[in-house]
Amino acid sequence: MSLTVQPASLAGSTRVPGDKSVTHRAVMFAAVAEGTSEIHYPGTGQDNLSTLSAMGQLGVEATFDTPEHFTVVGRGPGALRAPSSPIDCGNSGTTARLLSGLLSGAQVLATLTGDESLSGRPMGRVAEPLRDIGYKVSTSDSGTLPLTIEDSRPTDTEGVRAVLRVASAQVKSCILLSGLYRDHTTEVVEPAVSRDHTERLLRAMGARVSSSRHYMNPAKHAGDPEAPMVRLYPGSTLRGRVLEVPGDPSSAAFLLASGAINGNGVAVEAMAINPTRVRFLDVLERMGASFSIRARRALTSGEPSATVTVTRSALQTTEIRGFEVPLVIDEIPVLAVVGAAATGRFVVRDAKELRVKESDRIATTIGLLNALGVTVEEHEDGFEFEGLGSACWEGFEFDCGDDHRIAMAAIVAALAASDPSSLLGTECVAVSFPEFGETVEKLGGSFK
Ligand code: S3P
Repeated sequence: MSLTVQPASLAGSTRVPGDKSVTHRAVMFAAVAEGTSEIHYPGTGQDNLSTLSAMGQLGVEATFDTPEHFTVVGRGPGALRAPSSPIDCGNSGTTARLLSGLLSGAQVLATLTGDESLSGRPMGRVAEPLRDIGYKVSTSDSGTLPLTIEDSRPTDTEGVRAVLRVASAQVKSCILLSGLYRDHTTEVVEPAVSRDHTERLLRAMGARVSSSRHYMNPAKHAGDPEAPMVRLYPGSTLRGRVLEVPGDPSSAAFLLASGAINGNGVAVEAMAINPTRVRFLDVLERMGASFSIRARRALTSGEPSATVTVTRSALQTTEIRGFEVPLVIDEIPVLAVVGAAATGRFVVRDAKELRVKESDRIATTIGLLNALGVTVEEHEDGFEFEGLGSACWEGFEFDCGDDHRIAMAAIVAALAASDPSSLLGTECVAVSFPEFGETVEKLGGSFK
């Protein structure tokens, strides 16, 4: 179906869906905690519903009460039952990768499958470190789904330490979750900081977890000689509780980016301001946008939240490399759209991970930039281009190719165009932000 997007300058204040990463974790951890958890303001996109339904298949009472409320009945570490059929993780890499660790630790024998996009994404990155610490996990010959957890019951005599090759919160969380079932410490070392929701939420639910200083201020410690490290101590019993989920900054990023390009004051309320997630605000500030942050709150999930308002001004380009890449990994497509409207050379390097997201996001972002009339130089680990100096592109046609973040980046670009644009395949926004269209309309956009 084709969507016509009218040019518009967004203005006003809104909420965004509950954070997708925090919601996945809240549902999974609540299931193996003692007692019932109420998850307030969860993400309700298709990815989070994949986790809710997976937990149902594993025998957990996890209910979608209202869009503002999930209830999960926790029955302790032994809560999970082997499913009678493979668990379909849909489009959700986080569901597949975190479950692979949780189920390995709990020794729940299961097979994980997914949709076409997820079935092409690498699972060796979780299967290999799990095997290294004694679990039997198989994947297809090409290291993709289906992933099967087999009977292994490793008996550790000392703690385990996984040294990751990529900075990935999904892989780090996979290993930490298997550690909930071991009698010794579990350490994970990453080449750079990735989002730390697992660590925060496990602590909020009663586990003992320590993290190196890198996670509190990733930019300050990026050059430290020691690598970022997280340690989970044994004997942690998780306790069910009210878990407040902050608004998803990766969803907010589309609205704030639109505000930075051609908005008239866009504010997102109750958004997560976890330092491992809001590096895109620093990138946008370097590009000339300014932000105000107010109404800060500490949530029961261990996450900080606040209202973030963007004010537009003339934009210049920037470079994104090194430690910054994992901290803005989901925001790079929309940051590139902002770069197209800026003056100078916009450069993204060290971002090979983009090739294995819901689409090859180096290729799909370049496709979108080309549709705006931008000529892009492609690298194996990124891309670069000369910004157009302003959002001077005309209405354009583009096929979003079933990637939710590419679709929302395309809508942001279309809002800034001089005349209407025609976008194909925007339904996939429901993966993370089902109300994206309504939210844009509330802020002044129109899809007629
Ligand atoms: C996520 C981690 C990131 C991110 C994904 C969600 C998570 O993936 O891109 O959207 O919830 O842990 P990687 O850990 O593979 O970088």
